[in-house]
Amino acid sequence: MLLVLIMMFNKNLEEKMEKKIIVVGVFVVDISVYSKNLPLPGQTIIGQNYIIGPGGKGSNQAVAIARAGGKVSLIARVGDDDFGKLGLRLYDEEGVNRKLLIVDKDERTGCATISIDENGMNSILVVPSSANGLTPEMIVNKKSSIKSSKTLITGFEIPLETAIQSLKIGREYNCLNILNPAPYVDVNKEIWSLADYVTPNEHEAFEITGIKVKNPEDAFEAGIKLCEMGSENVVITLGSLGAVTILNGKRGKHFLPPKVPGNVIDTVGAGDVFNGAFSLSITRGKSIEESVQFANLASSISVRRKGAALSSPIALEIEQNQTENLDWFYEI
Ligand code: RIB
Repeated sequence: MLLVLIMMFNKNLEEKMEKKIIVVGVFVVDISVYSKNLPLPGQTIIGQNYIIGPGGKGSNQAVAIARAGGKVSLIARVGDDDFGKLGLRLYDEEGVNRKLLIVDKDERTGCATISIDENGMNSILVVPSSANGLTPEMIVNKKSSIKSSKTLITGFEIPLETAIQSLKIGREYNCLNILNPAPYVDVNKEIWSLADYVTPNEHEAFEITGIKVKNPEDAFEAGIKLCEMGSENVVITLGSLGAVTILNGKRGKHFLPPKVPGNVIDTVGAGDVFNGAFSLSITRGKSIEESVQFANLASSISVRRKGAALSSPIALEIEQNQTENLDWFYEI
């Protein structure tokens, strides 16, 4: 009995001490269809299966953080419709603070159509809809919540000026700013220096730097260039090749993903799970190396199941896979 009480006390204490993370991003509903191959332009093909579920990069990141045990709030704009209600239900079920959500009576919640082939590869068309109306002023109005957060994450699914405003407020309050530049949009240089960590995937790294990223060596080169453009630290994700780190303009390390049982069936949202888990780990004061390994593991688990937000692993699953993967530090 005493042991149970001590365990409960420790858990409460841990929860109280957990530092807050704020995500400024998008919620949409994903309509995902599964087929052998992805359709080519102008082609109609017969698929095998479909699912409808929660998506949107920022929202997926928030769910990934909550599932992994973090304290997270989401600033997003949704419509007062069935899709929006799906989001609200999701946050209640997953433990994401939704008090900062903006629900607009006159607009529709966004949606994404996603095609996924037999190797889990995907192509995505996302229409942010109501999220396009998330303005910089709306973020200014939420300043006090950013002030009380340790970490802020944002990306390019919301309007660019809103992402910039979020990062500026994050800077003002000494938040750790994480910028996931996805999907890539043309930006001016100012934005890179507003983030402590910039986390593109290989495609976004190419679009930002002009350096084709096919392997870890290319990724180091692109990351160093991104630092020359103003970023402090860069983490480039490389799908099945894991991720590389570039710290203060210097080549860091390459981390292959750990061994996780099962086949890859759906990579949608893998980057979001990576970003969520990475942010949580960095917020908890872990090193960038430990955080990349933690994030690699969380996203490796997620690609073995269907869905975006709902493929995120919970803390216990990550822990179990960590102990089964004591040699998972495939650092090169
Ligand atoms: O990163 C995956 C997400 O991108 C999907 O959930 C889709 O909604 C798009 O926003």
